[in-house]
Order: sequence, then C-alpha cells, then structure tokens
Amino acid sequence: MPITTCVFDAYGTLFDVAAAARQAATEPDCVAIRDDWPQLAEHWRLKQLQYSWLRAVAGAHTDFWEVTQNGLDWALEKTGHAGDAVLRERLLALYWELQAYPEVPDMLAALKAGGMNTAILSNGSPEMLAGAVTSAGLEEVLDVSLSVQSVGIFKPDQRVYDLVGGHFGCAKEDVLFVSSNGWDAAAATGYGFTTAWVNRSGEPMDRLPWEPAHVLRDLTGIPRLAGL
Ligand code: LAC
Repeated sequence: MPITTCVFDAYGTLFDVAAAARQAATEPDCVAIRDDWPQLAEHWRLKQLQYSWLRAVAGAHTDFWEVTQNGLDWALEKTGHAGDAVLRERLLALYWELQAYPEVPDMLAALKAGGMNTAILSNGSPEMLAGAVTSAGLEEVLDVSLSVQSVGIFKPDQRVYDLVGGHFGCAKEDVLFVSSNGWDAAAATGYGFTTAWVNRSGEPMDRLPWEPAHVLRDLTGIPRLAGL
C-alpha cells in the first residue's frame, strides 16, 4: 500500500528541544548556564520523558506541560541552578517557541506538494503544540496536531497511535511515522506503522522487541521514503 499520511513526533523530531537552553545560555540574565547548558538540556529532556513513562505506567496522567516543568526543576537542581527563578522562567518561555530544525519547512512543503496528509502526533498539550507550530511558521504545511491529551495517556501507549487512523480514516499501512526518539519509532513499528528513526547524533539502537524500518540522519530523506 502506498504511503498517504506522514506523521511526526514533535519534540526532538521537528523542534529542537536543546534550543531553549542553548539560546538562554547566550543571554545576560541566564549567564549561569553558559558552560553547562548541554548537561542541563540533556537532564531536562531525559527527566521529562521518564516522568511521562512513569505516569503512564502508574495511571497518573497529567498535562505534558507539568511533566516538562517537573523535569526542568529536577535538572536545575541536578546542575546546581535550583532557585534561579529568572533562569527557570526564561527556559520555560523558550520552550513555547522552539526552533524547528532547518530542513523542516521545505521537507513538509514537499510532502504537501506531493499530496500527502501531514500531522504531528505528540505528548505535547494542544496549547504547547500550537505555540511551537506557530512560532516555527508551519501552520500551512501541517494538516493537524494530534495530542495525547485527548486519550489521557502518554506514548508509547497504543491508544496514542490510534489517533492517526481515527483522524485521517487511514489504515496503519498507509502511514509513515517519523520520530527522533528511538523508543517511539520502535513502538510505532510494533503498532503497525512504517517507521523512520531520525538519529541525528548517532545514538545506539534501543533494545526493544521492535526496530524502526528506516534510520536517517535528518529529515531530508522523508519525501523519498514516502514514495515521492
Ligand atoms: C513528543 C515527545 C515524545 O513530541 O518528543 O511526543
């Protein structure tokens, strides 16, 4: 079956999650993280994800924005910046306007020109996703942002992946699912999507029962993978 629908994870896939700490580190009010912003960004991201998985397993769902703040508070304490309210506020504000990776606008435009359905499928709340899509100027090249909020559990619960068929009325075989999170691409393979893992930094393959169908270094090859 030909691919009709290209679905993207948001954070780390279309939007650069390290951009908030990288940008803040250049600003006078946030000079405290000038040297250790990469560690802060990594701890923030890992804790944000861990809290999403733990809440899913424990049946204690909350908004992704709360998980994002909880992860940041842990990371600030871990890196010795707890109590820096100005830094905290700035990092959280920047999370609402993360940069898209440079190839994203042209890649999505090529998919739309080729007649593909395009969507985000993300843990992010609808408000967070709307903020990121607008600030990156992607409204015209994305048909919809599907948020886990409507099912009340985080990825990789299969009910999240069900949102794609529910919205587009397409079969699993029609979908190319793209994520920079190896575990997300793997779980989507298990679900039945054709998958691409965008492995920008050369991470090892996750040891899970499934593997992504394709591994790419960036998003430029997605239109070709989709058959365009
Ligand atoms: C998302 C996270 C997992 O956008 O990156 O769903």
